[in-house]
Amino acid sequence: MEAFVSGGAGGVGAAAVVGVFVAAAVVGGFVAAVALAERAGVIAPRKRPNAPPGQPGLNISLSSLKLKAMVAKFSSISTRKLSKALTVLTRDKSMVATSDYGDFHKMVKRYVMSSTLGTSAQKKFRDTRDMMINNMLSTFHKLVKDDPHVPLIFRDVFKDELFRLSMIQSLGEDVSSVYVDEFGRDISKEEIYNATVTDMMMCAIEVDWRDFFSYLSWVPNKSFETRVFTAEARRTAVMRALIKQQKERIVRGEAKICYLDFLLAENTLTDEQLTMLVWEELIEAADTTLVATEWAMYELAKNPDKQARNICYSVPAHSWHYQPKRFLLGVFLVMPGTALPRNPEVCGDETVTEEHLPRLPYLNAVFHETLRRHSPVPLIPPRFVHEDTKLAGYDVPAGTEMVINLYGCNMNKKEWESPEEWVPERFTGGRLEVADMYKTMAFGAGRRACAGSLQVMHIACTAIARFVQEFGWRLTEGDEEKVDTVQFTAYKLHPLHVHLTPRGRM
Ligand code: HEM
Ligand SMILES: *[C@@H]1O[C@H](CO)[C@@H](O)[C@H](O)[C@H]1NC(C)=O
Ligand SMILES: *[C@@H]1O[C@H](CO)[C@@H](O)[C@H](O)[C@H]1NC(C)=O
Ligand SMILES: *[C@@H]1O[C@H](CO)[C@@H](O)[C@H](O)[C@H]1NC(C)=O
Repeated sequence: MEAFVSGGAGGVGAAAVVGVFVAAAVVGGFVAAVALAERAGVIAPRKRPNAPPGQPGLNISLSSLKLKAMVAKFSSISTRKLSKALTVLTRDKSMVATSDYGDFHKMVKRYVMSSTLGTSAQKKFRDTRDMMINNMLSTFHKLVKDDPHVPLIFRDVFKDELFRLSMIQSLGEDVSSVYVDEFGRDISKEEIYNATVTDMMMCAIEVDWRDFFSYLSWVPNKSFETRVFTAEARRTAVMRALIKQQKERIVRGEAKICYLDFLLAENTLTDEQLTMLVWEELIEAADTTLVATEWAMYELAKNPDKQARNICYSVPAHSWHYQPKRFLLGVFLVMPGTALPRNPEVCGDETVTEEHLPRLPYLNAVFHETLRRHSPVPLIPPRFVHEDTKLAGYDVPAGTEMVINLYGCNMNKKEWESPEEWVPERFTGGRLEVADMYKTMAFGAGRRACAGSLQVMHIACTAIARFVQEFGWRLTEGDEEKVDTVQFTAYKLHPLHVHLTPRGRM
């Protein structure tokens, strides 16, 4: 585990700039920006190896667990650091992901967990998730039937359904259009998506986190700033319109279980904070899950022998290996000793549901290995050390920025055998320690750990299992080596094109 700690006068300013866009990756997966832009022809696709750069600053190599414990434990390194553009887009930190560690953060994180993302809240959205997955499957079936020879574009199907879920969860309704005062007209769902998701991510396109690591100072760029301000104003106008529309629903007596209704009932936030928080969930839910699932399906399509046979192998519930529902950092802990049998059944005739997840060790391994090899958030967004701290024998002064290079850790040959290979088997079989299950630290740790990890797991794992149960997956010829990611995050550069063969279950 390597932590890059940049201290001293020179370091802090530059690190703060890094913070802008690394944090942005989490704030809603500005990740997708680049890919979308590329498709829209805004930028030429850029191929690049995706390892984050080596960089100046204190370069401390720590034993992984020790550092993870630190990150988990200390509130002194739980504050986020932001800078210009993101401060504009996030309206000066009035969101969960970007707020400083303190009372506001504690309150809103509790809100988002109790309303939508925590264990019991997730149960209330079970039907929505099931609908989402069933819709995707019918779309796949329809596309295959319409033309079995044309590869289908996975991302297009997944994106629409994920945004539907995101709207239902954050606003209470799958909104199809809304009247925006500022525009003087109704806008469509696609425009809503553009203003709240795509355009926000567009603002990150020209920024490459690599550049910021070279300690260039932030050069004000008038045209970039204008774009950021314009996009921010549109986003806010659309969010206000969406919230107004839902408030009218509430006045009509149609209460819904969703983040907005929950926040309104709490009645502790300003209008601006409310708008920002609802937007945060809308954009966060709409992206990273797609990144993770797309990579998993890419790897599975590339490895047909690892599809249904293994994925649907389940551990009997009575087995001592089975740890019911212990959910930790996005993985169900399936205990060591669950080596795969030689001829596992494809779950018999049973359709995989969320209840099965804790008993599907290979599926969990696929999820975990995908997050290791293709972490959607390659750098843990900067934590700001707000009081003097000792770290691995170094005195780290207040004001220091700490960035954990997850990509570097997960590609470290000392910690992983052949780290560049995607091998789910490294997470199955006898020698696994509980600590290894969160060795990838894909969701961070401690007080600032990802709020959405349970939701990601529910959606991604169930979707992966259902997808391979219903279809055989095969890459378009020549796509085997298309593992490039785009710019500063792990968004797949080449959208996955696949051939599906129905397994004839339905
Ligand atoms: C595969 C998908 C995802 C990955 C890999 C991921 C990863 C992360 C990471 C690494 C952090 C920072 C943790 C830290 O500083 O220790 C984070 C924070 C966060 N994530 Fe996720 N995330 C994912 C999906 C989601 C989803 C779907 C949501 C919401 C619907 C979400 C909401 C959040 C929030 C609110 C925070 C801020 C938490 C805080 O600052 O207290 N994430 N995520
Ligand atoms: C940081 O340490 C690693 C291994 O200890 C080394 O490979 C890397 O070059 C170092 N980076 C810098 C900027 O010193
Ligand atoms: C939404 O954005 C995409 C990509 O930038 C663009 O192609 C599309 O025309 C936009 N749609 C609307 C309705 O503005
Ligand atoms: C400023 O931003 C625009 C696009 O937003 C870009 O085309 C231009 O190269 C940037 N200028 C500088 C000096 O970075």
